[in-house]
Amino acid sequence: MAKEQKKTKSLNYLSVRESRRITRENRRVTARFDKQLKRKYVPESEYLTQMKDPNNVVEFDDLHTHFFTDIGTVRAVDGVSFDVPRGKTVGVVGESGCGKSVTSLSLMQLLQRPQGQIVSGAIRFNDGTRAVDITKMPLVGMQSIRGGQISMIFQEPMTSLNPVFRIGKQMDEVFELHEKGLSKAERKERSIELLKMVGIANSEGVYRMYPHELSGGMRQRVMIAMALSCKPSLIIADEPTTALDVTIQAQILDQLRQLKDQINSSIMLITHDLGVIAEMADYVVVMYAGKIVEKGTAVEVFGNPSHPYTIGLLNSKPVVNKKVDRLYSIPGKVPNPIEMPDYCYFKDRCEMTVEGCGGPYPCQYRLSPTHLVSCYRFADKEVAAQ
Ligand SMILES: Nc1ncnc2c1ncn2[C@@H]1O[C@H](COP(=O)(O)OP(=O)(O)O)[C@@H](O)[C@H]1O
Ligand SMILES: [Mg+2]
Repeated sequence: MAKEQKKTKSLNYLSVRESRRITRENRRVTARFDKQLKRKYVPESEYLTQMKDPNNVVEFDDLHTHFFTDIGTVRAVDGVSFDVPRGKTVGVVGESGCGKSVTSLSLMQLLQRPQGQIVSGAIRFNDGTRAVDITKMPLVGMQSIRGGQISMIFQEPMTSLNPVFRIGKQMDEVFELHEKGLSKAERKERSIELLKMVGIANSEGVYRMYPHELSGGMRQRVMIAMALSCKPSLIIADEPTTALDVTIQAQILDQLRQLKDQINSSIMLITHDLGVIAEMADYVVVMYAGKIVEKGTAVEVFGNPSHPYTIGLLNSKPVVNKKVDRLYSIPGKVPNPIEMPDYCYFKDRCEMTVEGCGGPYPCQYRLSPTHLVSCYRFADKEVAAQ
């Protein structure tokens, strides 16, 4: 008890001296990372690498991304490893705040700097001709990858579109940046064609409109069109349908799936909605408090959910034809990201604890070649190499 009190105290009542010390230390650490990123001339050999499997577009390998804040270091992503195979959809699921967006922002190098920094690990990206390690890539090198080879669809299309420019101008700009040789008329033609492709009937009209003249679903379609304009190898969709109503949501997801096959790219689909994942994903990654607790093919994770957190998530979804008095909710809340426990992060909320649970954070146990779970309930299974 006494220890617990001390902990709360140290978190909520930082002395001025302590806070100054943290700020000074943060400045020193983040300046070092920033200097590395902002270099202008970096030999290619520094960031060229080899993929573990050439069929993967992206491989996250023990990625650690931290935020150095004035009250302490937030380990937003804490040792995440998973692959996105070519032509497949990988769903990343978990409660709000578990590090899904930070994982994707690390891949795009769009973290809020200077406090947000990738501190260790690798993100290997295969652009078809070579493999690069994004974590070692200087910022200047990212400009050709972002929007061209990897593109991102955000949750709220209104904040991603510029309100003072017409849709057409914003779409043409993507070609201006990434496909130099096109004439003005060609750019317009390509943009209108893209708008048609994402199911906008009045595409010439929409080309001349401002974002505020469109509905939420239409804006999200425009965002998808923009994301697809350079035929990227990877589309990151971060909660692409959360701001939309259910019928539009289904249409947009359908569209995304069709278009992905047309241009043969992969999707990293981030959402807290298991229904969306079940409909779209080939592989599922379940995250909790910055770590992956379970991953496998969609059939494995939905058919044989094994981590108590995954089971809890599945139970907290309403099911048609099943009458319940009260919908299940996982008890407790996510631990404080600044002072994570040194045992399993889910233990304090877990209803299936076993003897070993007080021990160090569990390693990943292998249930099948593709199905891994970090839980002591499977301690008799083979340990997966990190
Ligand atoms: N700019 C930031 N500064 C400090 N902490 C941040 C920042 N952005 C995200 N975080 C922290 O990182 C963790 C993961 O956030 P995020 O990846 O956005 O969650 P989600 O899974 O909902 O997308 C959260 O604990 C959040 O508080
Ligand atoms: Mg998010």
